[in-house]
Amino acid sequence: MKNILVTGGCGFIGSNFVRYWLSEHDSNIVILDKLTYAGRRENLQDLWQDPRLTLVVGDIVDQELVRRTCRDHHVDLIVNFAAETHVDQSILGPLVFTDTNVRGTHVLLEVARELGLRLHHISTDEVYGHIPDGHQSVETDPLSPRSPYAASKAAADQLVQAYHITYGMPVTITRGANNVGPYQYPEKAVPLFSTNAILGEPIPVYGDGLQMRDYAHVHDHCTGIEAALLHGRPGEVYNVGTGREMTNLEMVDIVLATLGKGRDLVRHVTDRPGHDRRYSMNVDKLRALGWHPRFDPREAVAEAARWYAENRAWWEPIRSGEFRAYYDRQYAERLAGAGQDA
Ligand code: NAD
Ligand code: TYD
Repeated sequence: MKNILVTGGCGFIGSNFVRYWLSEHDSNIVILDKLTYAGRRENLQDLWQDPRLTLVVGDIVDQELVRRTCRDHHVDLIVNFAAETHVDQSILGPLVFTDTNVRGTHVLLEVARELGLRLHHISTDEVYGHIPDGHQSVETDPLSPRSPYAASKAAADQLVQAYHITYGMPVTITRGANNVGPYQYPEKAVPLFSTNAILGEPIPVYGDGLQMRDYAHVHDHCTGIEAALLHGRPGEVYNVGTGREMTNLEMVDIVLATLGKGRDLVRHVTDRPGHDRRYSMNVDKLRALGWHPRFDPREAVAEAARWYAENRAWWEPIRSGEFRAYYDRQYAERLAGAGQDA
């Protein structure tokens, strides 16, 4: 793990991982990132001077570019974060999810096969689909994705496993729970609700708000990936989360309490089509590698909300720019017909 290619390293989790990894390990990292709306150079502003870090701007679907980047930088490990990642965007415009998440991952696998590289793939709990009360997903459960985003991630996840089975390639996979923390693009629920609360704007809760998520701190996801990289077995999948869920309304209450705002901002809006009611993962397999999460989900959400209060300079330009058009498309009609919490 001397020279690592981190795809999607300018996004939320990728940039947190790069910062964490360089603080703990003596590796060189080359980031390959298309710099979509979610990929931002400023997420690593303080690190671009570090001689161990290089940025290549480009698409993981471009096989020649991936091959050249791996050769030029003597890469021995690929860690694949690059993806289109937002469920609501996948409902509005699904095809790019297949391009990046499925074909892009496939291209990385092909280059890794050709050059004899190890590949670690970042998957998600959403591949398991909706999980009924009383069950926690284990790594051997069948995949049952229900959104275009989740389906594209499930396809990628299975391609990675197929390359281990068919070609014996040294691959590992981590399936992360909902992450929260610094530099998360404000389309996702916790940063959206935090920034709306700070601005005194309504908080659009889909449906009854009783959907359940495991809100894990991005730091714990990064250490989970580290554990899988250092101690994981080739061909194996590891769930990464806290193993504890809360409802979206509970999450909203933590955000509002942290920011000193009231429930009067909450609006119940038309639900997301195909909305998964509950995700829940068992994380014992990763714990058996010596990993454990540092943050309880309540602390993780509160920490994230505080970060948005303290880092307006990061998100204000995003909120006033291209994000506005997406926000209006996604929420204007919903908020016009919204119901307020009692
Ligand atoms: P993000 O949307 O913040 O960042 C994605 C990054 O990928 C951006 O930097 C973007 O520019 C880059 N990218 C997109 N398409 C690309 C392409 N074709 N070529 C090269 N780069 C491209 O996403 P995130 O929240 O940091 O998620 C990172 C990974 O973790 C994804 O694979 C996602 O599925 C997975 N994941 C996310 C969560 C979560 O809660 N955010 C949870 C579990 C798993
Ligand atoms: P999100 O952050 O989009 O993650 P995911 O859909 O991948 O779990 O959403 C987290 C939860 O919050 C999910 O149940 C959907 C809900 N949600 C809302 O109620 N309103 C919103 O505006 C958004 C973006 C999400």
